[in-house]
Amino acid sequence: MKSLFFILIILSVSCGNYTDLKTEPDQTSISALPLEALNFENIKTSVLNESCLQCHKAYENYNAVKGDIDKILAQIGSDQMPLNMAPLKDEQKNLLRAWKLAGTPFDSDDTDSTPTEPELEPLWESVSVKIIFPKCVSCHNPNGQASFLDLSTRQSFFDNRDYLLNNFEDVENSYLIEVITDPDEPMPPKWSSFEQLNEKEISTLIEWIQKGLP
Ligand code: HEC
Ligand code: HEC
Repeated sequence: MKSLFFILIILSVSCGNYTDLKTEPDQTSISALPLEALNFENIKTSVLNESCLQCHKAYENYNAVKGDIDKILAQIGSDQMPLNMAPLKDEQKNLLRAWKLAGTPFDSDDTDSTPTEPELEPLWESVSVKIIFPKCVSCHNPNGQASFLDLSTRQSFFDNRDYLLNNFEDVENSYLIEVITDPDEPMPPKWSSFEQLNEKEISTLIEWIQKGLP
């Protein structure tokens, strides 16, 4: 029994090392990257334009990418993103990792010229990335636990409008907003780890719907 215990410990320790090796950046290829490569323009042309922007329009904005960089590295490290596409090449992953290590500079020679954080706007490209993807889509997607109501695209809101939205004038009393603000059983569910929407998020969502889901 004692020896079995010992083997288990060794196994788990070596597994830990293995995952570290798999996800940690390859230091040699990072230090080989020229510093000039580490700027947002190059991140866009080398990675984002081709593999991310079609779904994450917000990543055209420097601050959106900078703010998400840890999540991005986790998602590309585990090949969960880009969704439904070939994984990024190692050079692309290492470029993103090196960019983070360098402090996510906007320009190669000027780390301080940082444009300001974009406001939450009543546009799909903004509400999707700031509200719907982080707070709804893990469950509400075609393979999730709430697959009966896909919320991962603008089209799916539109297709479900009769069910979610009574009419575009009386949005505050629509089913969608009722469900989100329900005092007893709101969405995201209280039992989940997802945070409820704050007032600003709710009012922006209402405005987005009033404008006809632009
Ligand atoms: C085909 C569409 C599509 C592409 C391409 C795509 N994504 Fe995503 N991404 C999504 C969807 C939908 C979600 C939310 C679904 C989920 O949580 O599983 C998501 C979630 C994420 C998240 C998690 C957000 C959070 O708040 O947890 C990150 C980070 C991310 N994507 C980064 C990227 C990056 C970086 C790329 C490009 C290398 C990329 N994605 C390409 C559709 C896409
Ligand atoms: C942790 C998973 C999870 C998250 C996150 C989540 N939902 Fe749900 N949602 C569910 C499940 C499960 C149901 C069905 C059971 C129920 O009604 O409680 C549901 C039901 C719904 C319904 C239909 C309710 C009905 O009675 O027909 C709507 C509308 C909805 N969710 C919207 C949202 C919106 C909008 C978000 C994000 C702001 C969200 N959900 C986040 C799991 C989730």
